[in-house]
Amino acid sequence: MAIINQIDKTKLPKHVAIIMDGNGRWAKQQGKNRVFGHRQGAKSVKEIVQAAGELGIDYLTLYAFSTENWNRPKLEVDALMALLISSINKETKELIQNNVRLLSIGNHAILPKNVRNKLYEAIEQTKNNTGLTLVLALSYSARWEIIEAAKKVAQLAVNQKISIEDIDEEMINQNLATATIPDPELMIRTSGEFRISNFLLWQLAYSELYFTDKLWPEFGKKEFFEALLDYQSRERRFGKTSEQLEQNI
Ligand code: IPE
Ligand code: IPE
Ligand code: MG
Repeated sequence: MAIINQIDKTKLPKHVAIIMDGNGRWAKQQGKNRVFGHRQGAKSVKEIVQAAGELGIDYLTLYAFSTENWNRPKLEVDALMALLISSINKETKELIQNNVRLLSIGNHAILPKNVRNKLYEAIEQTKNNTGLTLVLALSYSARWEIIEAAKKVAQLAVNQKISIEDIDEEMINQNLATATIPDPELMIRTSGEFRISNFLLWQLAYSELYFTDKLWPEFGKKEFFEALLDYQSRERRFGKTSEQLEQNI
């Protein structure tokens, strides 16, 4: 049976988050430069966005550029920013056709102005779409996001809008960049690395984690469906016992 038909459409995660890793190593294997790998990686992005939309997944968050990635050689950073602009230029029309809404989380203030403008333009153009929400984590780090949330909550307290006792999980959630987005049920990382690399540290608290050796440019629909199948085979206990789950208590 085709792998897509093995997926239970009634038990899909609402939100899948992906650390798209391995572009550089893939390029090296091909005897090409790293930028070639990033271009190929953009093709995987297109394929996975299509697959997620077709399946009816509500949110897909892609880690496209981390705060730490600013420390890469300038040539590579510049190439990634240029690729971002050209991808948005090329793909916005298709996003609109496929009813995809674009959002982005991250420290956009330090993005080059032309990238920021392009990004905001695409977000504006897709804001009324009601299908998949595609969240690009750009210039993003989870610790940055948590610090920003702490500052906002502290300001509310200083302004006496809240008292310290009012601070709870919900208030932190509401002050994160992901305030309007549910936590991911599934987080995928490609390229055989077993780490989180400062991605969604708060939101991944109870997510299922899936690691694959496939490098990002090799990660296509089939690999995505395999990850979803694996997710569906897991029992999410949230601290309870298996018996409690079976008895629904
Ligand atoms: C992921 O691929 C893309 C970005 C971080 C922008 P890498 O560029 O990290 O590829 P590897 O890990 O060096 O193979
Ligand atoms: C994580 O990949 C960031 C993105 C995928 C954008 P990296 O390749 O930067 O991660 P580390 O530094 O190896 O953990
Ligand atoms: Mg990497």
